[in-house]
Amino acid sequence: MFEEMWRELAPVGRVAGGGYVRQPLTRAERECSAWFLQAAADRDLRVELDGFGNAVAWWDPPQATTARSLLTGSHLDSVLDGGAFDGPLGVVSAFAAVDVLRERGVVPGRRVGVGAFFEEEGSRFGIACLGSRLASGAMSVDTAEALTDRDGVRLGDAWAQASLDPTTGPSLLADVGCFVELHVEQGRGLVHRGAAVGVASAIWPHGRYRFDFDGQANHAGTTRMQDRHDPMLTYASTALAADTLARAGDRRATFGRLEVHPDATNAVPSRVTAWLDARAETAEHLEALLAELERQGRDRAALDGTSLHVTPESVSGPVHFDGELAQRISAPHGWPVIPTMAGHDAGVLATAGFPSAMLFVRNPTGVSHAPDERASTADCLAGVEALADTLQGLCG
Ligand code: GLV
Ligand code: MN
Ligand code: MN
Repeated sequence: MFEEMWRELAPVGRVAGGGYVRQPLTRAERECSAWFLQAAADRDLRVELDGFGNAVAWWDPPQATTARSLLTGSHLDSVLDGGAFDGPLGVVSAFAAVDVLRERGVVPGRRVGVGAFFEEEGSRFGIACLGSRLASGAMSVDTAEALTDRDGVRLGDAWAQASLDPTTGPSLLADVGCFVELHVEQGRGLVHRGAAVGVASAIWPHGRYRFDFDGQANHAGTTRMQDRHDPMLTYASTALAADTLARAGDRRATFGRLEVHPDATNAVPSRVTAWLDARAETAEHLEALLAELERQGRDRAALDGTSLHVTPESVSGPVHFDGELAQRISAPHGWPVIPTMAGHDAGVLATAGFPSAMLFVRNPTGVSHAPDERASTADCLAGVEALADTLQGLCG
């Protein structure tokens, strides 16, 4: 059951240092997909694949029904050098919860699906929750096809190479009436509350922005300091400003990715491209952070004789999960209801109008998107029971 599935998945995409690299349309992802198909086959679940790379394994009710389906699951891809739990915990727990429901003798009154969404992290093509955005119609196929990875490979070509056609294939969400995603907590909210399991209330607004700093390439030895137009200095000053602004307003600002041209030790760079991930409790707070940061970045660019151009790559508004659904799930067990600053497919589906809920499983380190991400086996098993209880309450 849970532990056996966890063991099977554990070696897939694991890299030196114990982290995971499971990017979409790579070998690691193909191995994750093969594992998903096997887990579905082991349970006689009927698999449906769409043209985007999303998959659902359906447990069909014995009687034909017009009731809308209940979907659970999460994603199997990871960030670069991520942890084992972000994503896979929700998929493995979903299969394990189906096992628990069958052991309890539950007969579903509606279809119950175990889903795995494509490119949730945006680690390869830059846009988070790509699979759920496409499946829910929040992003067009044309826009997605034109996205490129760091090697310039178009998503449209990568799909074709994997024999996926985004213009055909079933719509996996067509008759979904409710989505429940279980996820490892990505902070220590549940640790502080002494609870193994929690329920999500909301997701903070979140933006990803590309900052292009342009200057003038020149010799690192012969160019006097006062003659330089060094975009690295403008970037460095802007990164410090982002930190100061975020701390002052209880917001988050991270420059976690950088490209330098020409990336030479003995040359002043001509261009620095940096990606900002910013989050805040409200859209207004997020917009204010970005506006002030852009202003400070441009002021510094004027001093350095460089320029700054900011391009939003994806911006998501706040998500407020269905309050009644969250209460219905949490109240009988006294599970705390807490917000999260991390993005999730459940947020995309909630925004698209699907009643959605999230269960969190305690993370003792609070670390996520890194190899130190953790959840104890006992808490994972508590999560499976919690998901089974939740699905049982919703699938009658
Ligand atoms: C997704 O995990 C995100 O919050 O970046
Ligand atoms: Mn994540
Ligand atoms: Mn995730």
